Parts: sequence; C-alpha cells; structure tokens
Amino acid sequence: MCGIVGYIGHRDAWDIVIKGLKRLEYRGYDSAGIALMNGGLKIHKKAGKVSDLEAHTLHEDRSGTTGMGHTRWATHGAPSDRNSHPHRSGDGKLSIIHNGIIENYSVIKEALLAKGHVFSSDTDTEVLIHLIEDIHSDTTDLLEAVRLALNEVIGAYAIVIMSQDSPDQLIAARKGSPMVIGVGEGEYFIASDATPIVEYTKNVIYLKDSQIALVKRDELVVKTIDNIIQTPYIQELSLQLEMLEKGGFEHFMLKEIYEQPRSVRDCMRGRIYPIEGKVQLGGIKDYADKLKNVERIVVIACGTSWHAGLVGEYLIEEYARIPVEVEYASEFRYRNPIISEKDIVIAISQSGETADTMAAIELAKERGATIFGICNVVGSSIPRITDAGVYTHAGPEIGVASTKAFTAQVTVLTLMALYMAQQRGTVKQSDLVSMLTELDEIPTLIEQALKSDEKIAEIAEKFKDSSNCLFLGRGSGFPVALEGALKLKEISYIHAEGYPAAEMKHGPIALIDEDMPVVFIATKNSSYEKVISNIQEVKARKGKVIAIVTEGDKTVKEMVDYIIEIPACNEAYLPLLATIPLQLLSYHIAVLRGCNVDQPRNLAKSVTVE
Ligand code: AGP
Repeated sequence: MCGIVGYIGHRDAWDIVIKGLKRLEYRGYDSAGIALMNGGLKIHKKAGKVSDLEAHTLHEDRSGTTGMGHTRWATHGAPSDRNSHPHRSGDGKLSIIHNGIIENYSVIKEALLAKGHVFSSDTDTEVLIHLIEDIHSDTTDLLEAVRLALNEVIGAYAIVIMSQDSPDQLIAARKGSPMVIGVGEGEYFIASDATPIVEYTKNVIYLKDSQIALVKRDELVVKTIDNIIQTPYIQELSLQLEMLEKGGFEHFMLKEIYEQPRSVRDCMRGRIYPIEGKVQLGGIKDYADKLKNVERIVVIACGTSWHAGLVGEYLIEEYARIPVEVEYASEFRYRNPIISEKDIVIAISQSGETADTMAAIELAKERGATIFGICNVVGSSIPRITDAGVYTHAGPEIGVASTKAFTAQVTVLTLMALYMAQQRGTVKQSDLVSMLTELDEIPTLIEQALKSDEKIAEIAEKFKDSSNCLFLGRGSGFPVALEGALKLKEISYIHAEGYPAAEMKHGPIALIDEDMPVVFIATKNSSYEKVISNIQEVKARKGKVIAIVTEGDKTVKEMVDYIIEIPACNEAYLPLLATIPLQLLSYHIAVLRGCNVDQPRNLAKSVTVE
C-alpha cells in the first residue's frame, strides 16, 4: 500500500513529487525515494519518512522537470535503504517505482539470475525493472518492452518508469492498484490518488486495470497491455484542497472525529425526507424490485468496514426482515461460498481499493450475485466494479484509523435498511416518519457527544499505561465494542478485544482483575438490564469499568469507576453516538503514549495487496 507520484512538465519536479508523497504518506511510511531526470537519472532514497529523505538530500542538486517518487509500505524486503524505491535496472538506465505485489517474482528472478542479472535488493519490484531491461535489449521500443513484461507478471501493480535514454517521457501502468493521471497545460501529474494532484489541476484520468500510458509533456497515449489503443476519459475532481489540511487540529484523526456531525449530515443530504417518511437512494433505485424479493444479503468487508457491516446486519434484519450474513472479505474469497443470482452482496470499503474486498466482489460477480458498493473515495476501483452503490460522502479521510468513514458507512446502512423496509412494507409509514425525524437529529446529538472530549481525556490519563483492555456491548453495541477495541489497538498498540457482553462468562471473564480496564456500552435500550448484570460480574472481580451511558443515568454511575454520557436516542442509532467517545478515548490514550496517531506503525490507509 505504497504511494506513488510522477511529474513531467515545466515546473521543478522535486517540489511537486515531495509534496505529493507527503499527501500520500498515510498509504505507507517505511521508506521514501525520488528519481529526477537532470543530466541523467538521479536517484535519492532513504528508509523512514519523506522528511528523512528531505534531510538526507539537503545538499543534493534537486533540479529537473521530470521526476517520480515513492513512499513505501514494505511487503517484500524489510524497510531499509536498499529496499527503498526507486529501483534501477542492471545497466542503471531504467528506474521504477511500484505499488502492489508481483506474485511470481521469484520465478522471474531465477530466470534473470541465470542470465547474469545481479540484484541489489530483496524486492519484487527490482525484478520487474530487470525483466523490462531484459526484454528491452531485444526491442528498442521501451513502451513495448514494458507492455511485454507486464504480460509476464502475475499480481497487482501501479508503476511509473523513467529512462535515461528517453528523458522526456514517463511510462505508467496499473492493474489492481490505483492510479490517477492529472492533465495540465504542457504537464502531467501521476499519483495513487487525487490528493497530490488537486492543487495543480482538477482534470483527471482514472487509469483502468491493465492499461499502460506513455506520458510526454504534450502527449498522452493510453493503451491496454494487449496493445489496444484507448481514448482516456477526463473527469473533473470535486475534491477541494482545504479538505486535505488539518484545519487547526493537532491530528487528522481528531479533525475527522470532529467532522462527524457534518459528514453524517452530508451522507443523509438529499436522501431522507422525514415529513414524507421517505428514503431516497438514487444509486440503488434501479434495484428496488430486486430488493422487494431478495432472500438473502451478504456483506463483504475488512477491518472497520466489516464492523459497520455487522451494524448493518442488525438494522436490515430488524427493519427490512431480510437475513444478512457478514463476511470477512479475505476469508470469503477463499472459502468457496454459496452465492447465486438470487443474492445481493454489499461490499463496504472506505478507500474503495482494498484488495481482499475487490477479489471477493469478483468472486460474487462470477456466481451471478448483484453487487452493491458502499464507498467513500469517489472514482476509486470498487465503485467501478459494482452494479450499483451509495457513496458515504464523508470527504477525504487521511488518518489511518477510520472514524468519520465508519459513522458514514453506518449511516448509509441505516438508510439502506429503512429504504428496503420502505420497498418491502415491513415498517409502518408512521414509524418511518418518526424514525427519519429522529435520524435527522443525529448530527446535533453527535455534536453533544463530542462535548465529553475533555472528560474523556482525563479518563484516558488513568488508562494510558494499560497493557490490555476489553470492550463489551450487546446487540448493535457489540460491533461498536469491536470498533472501539480496534481503534485502541491500531493507534495506541494496547492489546484490546471487543466481545458480546454475555460471552464473558464463557471464558474472557478469566482475564478480569484490578489491572484490566473494561469499557461497557451501557446505554438505556432493550438490553440495558442484561448489561447491568454483566457489569456486576466484572466489578465482582475488581475490574476497572468505564461505561458509556445515556445522559442522566444514575444507576450505572453508582456501579462503575468512570461514566461517559451520550444523549438518548432511538436504539437503531446507538452505534452512531456510542462510537464517538470510544474514538476519543483511543485518540487521547494514543496521544498520551506519544504514538503517531495519524500514521500508526505497521499500518496503511488502504490495503491494496493481499
Ligand atoms: C480501520 O481504522 C483501518 N484503517 C482498517 O481496518 C480498514 O478499515 C480496513 O483496512 C478496510 O479498509 P477499507 O474500508 O478502505 O476497505
């Protein structure tokens, strides 16, 4: 899940490439590198962040109007200077940056070693540039050599190639990994997503799978790797530059937590009509009839998106009365699942680029299912391979730990559940009016929940040195507990688990002692009384309990160590409110532990390889 940037034009490539890499650093930050065409191919690379590369090249000649850069998330070869990209060919004349994995690289490497090629890194990427060099020795046309080489590799790639002998061009190609080309006046920009491009041009081309592009200052040729010329489709970006800035917050994650009243509002805009009791989802309206008779819905996703899927299961079964199964995409794709044309499969992904989810979609499509997508990144791959879908409109999410995208995904699933109920007549019109009227209030209630921030920071102080933590909930509070545990794990590196509260007695209660913090979702709803007895079980073993409670709850307050109040709401909307304090708790604990909240170790924002 690396970030790649390329530029050819009349401006200094260094500034554009380095700035672009910083925008993409949420994709991976194990090492960074840049290649410039300036009286030959100049390469600078260093393990660590882009800022380390800048420091490392302070006194280097940074001129050149053609360049490319890479920020790495290590897959093949440990994070190190020699495994950093760009990589060179054996003769040093070709260079490559790559996002993805070449699965058959070791076979190719064996063959090239037998031909006398010498490798200086452990990466799959270096093998690809040596293969291109090898083929190029037989054909003078570099574009053709790249095309032929790509026909030999298996795996995912977004690559940019520079050649010392052809200094006025870049060659780019993609399969499985994302790539955007920005179209300027006498200049072109290449990147993994639009964030490095938006400040220079709004006109972009999303390169399709198995397409290769020859990019010159005043010419762009796109064809397939089967050598069929393509007419690229230029579209206008809706992204705004300021959306990519921190807006005065210390971290993108905190900014994105505070954006949730707006992002949930934007997600509902033009989709709910409380007075009429109507939900409108233009993206799936053509499937209204299918929804009336569908017998099963299968949700596929990874990580936080999978947790949103679990909330969707509760809502769709409760209101639309359709059985729902929620699958880890990575397991689903290798499990030979029973899927047919009768099924609707909902794929959830913030980035729209998660490899396991994309492969699971392809499998479900092969078996005839109708595929809906719920995505946040406009123009990403998943919206282009699904039959229909709904964007979450949460805006760019830069923090690796997903926050506003989760609540936006849950909002879309709530709208879908009520839309399906509307199609199937499983909820009375009057109830739809009251539920949508309450849903319309949720952004305001989220604003209120955010007001506990300071109190949560104080509680975080008490638990910042914990080494474990349990999150417990019932009903839709269970996936919220899972999400709370994931947030704490991924940004503070504290081991945490989410569990259905009633499952405690079947094992995990053995973990409870005075050193085990336990976070309960204990708001007033249908399982309130049950949760209270689960709290008593934990307190009986001296566990330290933090409880998320409904404003004014005195009962739980008496029983636990710390309470965090959230406004009362319809039980259906609990996940949209109860998640907020869990996001803030993890955020403050991670900050107090000095962790890099926006770029946690070993993680990346979109997982574009298996
Ligand atoms: C969540 O905070 C993580 N970044 C991760 O679990 C993420 O949800 C997962 O990789 C799925 O990503 P997607 O929604 O972009 O497909």
